[in-house]
Amino acid sequence: MTHLVLVGMMGVGKSTVGRMVAAELDRPLFDSDEMIEERTGRTVREIWSADGEAAFRVLETETLVEALAEVEPSVIAAAGGVVLSALNRVVLREADAHVVWLLADVDVLVGRVRNGMHRPLLDDDPAGTLRQMYDDRAPLYQEVADAIVSVDNRTPSEVAKAVLRCCA
Ligand code: S3P
Repeated sequence: MTHLVLVGMMGVGKSTVGRMVAAELDRPLFDSDEMIEERTGRTVREIWSADGEAAFRVLETETLVEALAEVEPSVIAAAGGVVLSALNRVVLREADAHVVWLLADVDVLVGRVRNGMHRPLLDDDPAGTLRQMYDDRAPLYQEVADAIVSVDNRTPSEVAKAVLRCCA
């Protein structure tokens, strides 16, 4: 009875797929960004612009730890940047959890992702930022992943089925 954690880049579909997998397994879904917004009563962008990225990252760690501490097995859609912290990576590796890296070709992400309200990092040069981010983060996602599921050429529901097949 372990948690199932989805990690991966912005725009890969963690929240959408997480919702589907949680519904199928009849488990609660914890979505990091939503947890942060509920807990603080502020949007990701408000936190980012008032307190800065570092303050946001602290909240990211707190919500990850909080979600993993739940006794009832859940599905956790972790925010894209969760792997940046070495502490978070240790927490993920040591938790009673299956960590699934949702992997997309970077060109697919570039075509899909818009900056949007909760993605201040993509305000300037979203395509270039995503490409750089992908290079920087791929080894970090790899480090925490128990399994890798490709989203390329798959609908969210096909991705959800693949996650359920491999990891539930
Ligand atoms: C971030 C990803 C976002 C959000 C914030 C930072 C990142 O979440 O937490 O904008 O650094 O990758 P999603 O992965 O849900 O888009």
